[in-house]
Amino acid sequence: MFVTEKMNETNVEGIAELEKENFSDGWSLKSLKEEINNPDALYLAVRNDENNMVVAAAGMIISIDTADIMNVSVKEEYRRKGLASKLLDALFEEGKKRGVKDFTLEVRENNHAARKLYEKKGFVFEGIRPNFYSNPAEGAAIYWLREKEV
Ligand SMILES: CC(C)(COP(=O)(O)OP(=O)(O)OC[C@H]1O[C@@H](n2cnc3c(N)ncnc32)[C@H](O)[C@@H]1OP(=O)(O)O)[C@@H](O)C(=O)NCCC(=O)NCCS
Repeated sequence: MFVTEKMNETNVEGIAELEKENFSDGWSLKSLKEEINNPDALYLAVRNDENNMVVAAAGMIISIDTADIMNVSVKEEYRRKGLASKLLDALFEEGKKRGVKDFTLEVRENNHAARKLYEKKGFVFEGIRPNFYSNPAEGAAIYWLREKEV
């Protein structure tokens, strides 16, 4: 069974492992740990309770009524099971409880899988920020999900 839970001292190492697997510039264990007690951040993990492995994670940082979603990430062999979609729904729900009106995110412009996911969840493409990423250099596609669209 998959269990969705907040990032905590127990699952943070699994989240950091997943970051390393999926991103060339992922968050370090130290940076993730700093977010555990950040009241403006919410980081969620999905754990497979049969083997206790963290198989997906996603986070957001809230600034007044806007949330910046980041690090949506699913372990390769657990993809296309709806886990990222489920995590985004959980972030929307918690964000709305905390007064968030608009959600935004950026994604590598050639990351077609992630762009499809975000578009399916209702995010609207608003433009490219050239050379936003390094390692490798790439533009960012900027998406917003504004209150009226949620
Ligand atoms: C992008 C990613 C998070 C998707 O996670 P996931 O759990 O497989 O996504 P879901 O199963 O919730 O997919 C929901 C929808 O997104 C779209 N989607 C997801 N992966 C896709 C793919 N490889 N190709 C095309 N569409 C895809 C589909 O519309 C899918 O719905 P469907 O399965 O009913 O067709 C995952 O591929 C991943 O971790 N990639 C590496 C890290 C990354 O790039 N993260 C994004 C950083 S911004």
